Amino acid sequence: MSINSQNVLDYPNNNTIFMVWNFTQKDAIKDSFKRLCALIGNLNNSANTRFPNSKASIVLGIGYEAWQLLNLPVPLPKEFEAFVPIAGTKHTAVATKGDLHLHIRSDTYSFCIDAASTISEILTDVAESVEEIHGFRYWDSRSILGFVDGTENPQGEDRQYFGIIGDEDPYYKGGSYLFVQKYIHDMRAWKSLKVDEQEKVIGRSKADDIEMPDEVKPSNSHSALANVGDELKIVRDNMPFGNVSTNQMGTYFIAYASSFNTVKKMLTNMFIGSPIGNYDRILDFSTPHTGSLFFVPTFEMLDSFGS
Ligand code: HEM
Repeated sequence: MSINSQNVLDYPNNNTIFMVWNFTQKDAIKDSFKRLCALIGNLNNSANTRFPNSKASIVLGIGYEAWQLLNLPVPLPKEFEAFVPIAGTKHTAVATKGDLHLHIRSDTYSFCIDAASTISEILTDVAESVEEIHGFRYWDSRSILGFVDGTENPQGEDRQYFGIIGDEDPYYKGGSYLFVQKYIHDMRAWKSLKVDEQEKVIGRSKADDIEMPDEVKPSNSHSALANVGDELKIVRDNMPFGNVSTNQMGTYFIAYASSFNTVKKMLTNMFIGSPIGNYDRILDFSTPHTGSLFFVPTFEMLDSFGS
């Protein structure tokens, strides 16, 4: 039987809505959750039929506490756990509660709005929305810091290898770990840096997105610390978002991975540092306000939850 993963490997597009919901009830949630699972399949199929060129998809992730509250299968996916904070001497990757995560993508913004609205109608009586982030494509896929974000992502078949669970966890094969963090940037401090200094923070050139040679790249640059080896990669689809007039601009960091340990390794390098204390300089300009791990089951599992 073929396994249908949710659309975790889709390539970046123009518009995204990220939503996090927390259950407010214990008893009535199962019925709403079933309807939601059925809806996700329906909306994805409908998107493929109605807007084949708009790269529209919706991915549902389920949090650790919610998995248990909903009596979903045990044993759990091998690396599924509640995310615990990772605290360095200066910066902390905080942990926040998230029961359900929705990743709604489309080049057509209207699709994102309507899908978010239909989903909200189902959830609103049993859960509260704790995050709703509208992400946008900024120029040629740049983060709001002005650097291209996503270049070193796995491409082609590597996306499947690094983004989706394989034979190492047979029952959950085709699923994926989903980790998200909402960062707010200190744009004033960032913009006060000269471009060559910003480039040292990221480890790449700003205009043409070229990686610095190893002998030049600072050991506390983002690309030095986030790179934990060619065998340990994740699939990222970060989006900028924010409020321009109040200067509250951010990055919604989102990663799909076949192994959550890889994400933890990257976070440890960034926040605690490698060696310890040599933390990622991007954090002097970027503060995470959320941090949650979710599990993304296959469409077949969602079908079984929905029936
Ligand atoms: C690379 C931005 C947080 C993992 C990059 C690059 C940029 C960037 C501009 C260079 C281009 C590229 O390869 O994509 C950001 C921003 C963040 C953020 C603005 C939030 C403030 C994170 C976090 C992780 C991470 C939390 C991991 C948990 C990576 C990885 C690379 C990368 C693995 C590729 C490194 C390489 O192999 O060269 N990021 N990032 N990033 N980032 Fe981030």
